[in-house]
Amino acid sequence: MTVPVNATNLRIPLDTGRDREFLDSWAELEAIGATPAGGVERQAGTAEDGEMRDWLSRWLRNRGFSVEVDPIGNLFGLLEFNPGAPYVLVGSHLDSQPRGGRFDGAYGVLAGAVAADRIRRYVTRSGFTPRYNVAVVDWFNEEGSRFKPSMMGSAVFTGTLDLEEALGTTDDDGVSVRDALAAINGIGDREVFSSSGPRQLAAYAEIHIEQGRELEKNNVTIGLVDRTWAANKYELNVVGVQGHTGATAIEDRQDALLGAALIVVALRDIADEFGEELHTSCGQLTVLPNSPVVVPREVHMHLDLRSDNDELLAAADAALRRRIAEAEIRAGVKVEHRKAHVWPGHHYQPQGVELARDAANDLGISSMLVQTRAGHDSTNMKEIFPSVMLFVPSVEGISHAEAEYTSDEDLCSGVDLLTEAVARMLDGSLDAAGAGHP
Ligand code: GLV
Ligand code: MN
Ligand code: MN
Repeated sequence: MTVPVNATNLRIPLDTGRDREFLDSWAELEAIGATPAGGVERQAGTAEDGEMRDWLSRWLRNRGFSVEVDPIGNLFGLLEFNPGAPYVLVGSHLDSQPRGGRFDGAYGVLAGAVAADRIRRYVTRSGFTPRYNVAVVDWFNEEGSRFKPSMMGSAVFTGTLDLEEALGTTDDDGVSVRDALAAINGIGDREVFSSSGPRQLAAYAEIHIEQGRELEKNNVTIGLVDRTWAANKYELNVVGVQGHTGATAIEDRQDALLGAALIVVALRDIADEFGEELHTSCGQLTVLPNSPVVVPREVHMHLDLRSDNDELLAAADAALRRRIAEAEIRAGVKVEHRKAHVWPGHHYQPQGVELARDAANDLGISSMLVQTRAGHDSTNMKEIFPSVMLFVPSVEGISHAEAEYTSDEDLCSGVDLLTEAVARMLDGSLDAAGAGHP
């Protein structure tokens, strides 16, 4: 007989040895694509990303999950307790930045997998049937380093990015997402979940390293993310005229790199002027032809502006546009705006924050509200599904760098809390929470 379970009786016991179970698997996973300085390199759709995905697929299949991949390469591990019932999805991303940290993304995928597996074992042992099923996800290309934009797999999944456009996106060598995914056997032929199909999603959960210092400063183990900062990302093309670095008179130059440099400095000036509530960067410059004796003819740039304050972000955007116009005149170049990737500063569903806070209190794990300045797959998911986003501390806030570090103790507390939160979500606790909150 199956007994429907509610939030109060699906409590997953914290078995002895549970930390080892996570840490042993973690040691295997973090070795893939490891760099000599303690980081990892496994950008989306590379052989190392493929190795990660194969490792995860084996791990999931060995524990009774069925593994499926959707047309944009999101990889799912499914556990069906209650045929036909919706799923609670939990995960993050396995891809990394170039010379990235070991924890960004991969921690959330393995934590989600271990949480789902603990629930599976409890369900087998106890004979309870949860109301909902559980699935684990590795979202394709969260980082947006090799293929832009970031959060690609979850954007296609939630309908904010067209599948064909995503598959046709090329890297700097002209390789498309479609070809990169095919090369790692990472492309599926149908949706794994859909709002009209037989398999539906009820809610989403993700755990991630904080990538900031709030938790460390406050000596708190878990961040309950209640809001994301907005981001405006731009891809610019600065167009000048190629010349000779020695022979071309200074007054005759239309130096694309000078134009780009003026924009880079403008970004910092704007951040200094607007204060802590604004972050600005230029993360990538591609200089053409990039040759020592040649005045550059073209520079591709990727910029971003981020803030929690919409008005301030709009004012910063206007200031940047003025400075771009000044750079065009000073350097004698034209700046083309090629693409933008923006997301709003929205709240996570308050019911999800409460659910996670209650779970942390019950487990005796300290928690506090935090915002996320970085984008995550939950940034997309929360606009459609009730979503819970949790952070564990990052030592010194270091991230997107090889020195990224989170202690084993914090990693394990995060897995415990994620397990408990997902277990509570399996009874439909967040059904009333609905989609995105401004
Ligand atoms: C993540 O994709 C970010 O841009 O923060
Ligand atoms: Mn991440
Ligand atoms: Mn990242």
